[in-house]
Amino acid sequence: MEDKKVLFSAIQPSGILTIGNYLGALRNFKKLQSDYNSIFSVADLHTLTVKQDPAVLRKNTYELTALYIACGINPDESILFAQSHVPCHAELTWILNTVTYPGELSRMTQFKDKSLKHEDNINMGLMDYPVLMASDILLYQTELVPIGADQKQHLELTRDLAIRFNNRFGETFKVPEGYFAKNGARVMSLCEPERKMSKSDANENAFISMNDDPATIVRKFKRAVTDSDNRIVCDENKKGITNLLTIYSAFTDKTIEEAEKEFEGKGYGEFKVRVGEAVADVIEPIRQEKNKLLQSKDYLDSVLKSGAERAQYVAYKTLNKVYKKVGLVPRIRG
Ligand code: TRP
Repeated sequence: MEDKKVLFSAIQPSGILTIGNYLGALRNFKKLQSDYNSIFSVADLHTLTVKQDPAVLRKNTYELTALYIACGINPDESILFAQSHVPCHAELTWILNTVTYPGELSRMTQFKDKSLKHEDNINMGLMDYPVLMASDILLYQTELVPIGADQKQHLELTRDLAIRFNNRFGETFKVPEGYFAKNGARVMSLCEPERKMSKSDANENAFISMNDDPATIVRKFKRAVTDSDNRIVCDENKKGITNLLTIYSAFTDKTIEEAEKEFEGKGYGEFKVRVGEAVADVIEPIRQEKNKLLQSKDYLDSVLKSGAERAQYVAYKTLNKVYKKVGLVPRIRG
């Protein structure tokens, strides 16, 4: 690898991704990839922490791999792989578990939220989720981790574990920094703009999925909840319009002020259609490309295979160092 800093991020193949995921993650990955030695993973082991239909999980793994590429991740330049294809992730998790306290995990906001949501399946994997995530990051001596605000606590734990391990066993891991997207980190529901846009919303009109075609996108925006005042401006009391302006500005790279000016004196009807079209203009080529890539499983398999080989090469170096530090007899690799 070239002498650049390492960037690592991952997304779970847990189903539909929304334009919130695109703005908060995928779009930034593309922007950042060439400034770093970039490694992107399909976090399939994480996904197993809530119940999955095995066939659907497999399909979603291909979907996400194709989506990464369609969004501009270049699998020759960056490393793109499935987490389960590189056994070091599970192996380092075991070691890190031995320096992690149960209290740090049971205190995690996401663990508490998910425990409430999946009361019938509170498993050890759900609790250990952040340690697997720490392993993902630390195996590659990562310096930068682009993540959503909801993952901040997990990154803090990663840093704590790295520092704790280094203090106990000597310098082993780089301590990573988070990278938080400025724009698009908070895309709100189209139906209840005081809530975050979520792919698990029972109401499909509340979110725009990366799989929505242009007609669907425009239709959903037309139905978006607004207000009865007719000004297109950002305002604390106009959550719906503020959300639409935010989305428009993110998808057109215009500032909010520019967008406000553009729609001055215009009606909500026209505005909503324009927002929908701006989103569709960006999403549609990605959707088409993704669907094209999905026609070629052989190609996607070859990307994942080569990605796993390259990831494993880097990850093994760290894992071997860790095994040696904690006192395991080095294995002879053939
Ligand atoms: N937990 C992350 C999420 O749900 C996905 C993830 C897994 C991740 N491993 C990671 C993100 C390592 C960054 C780095 O969004």
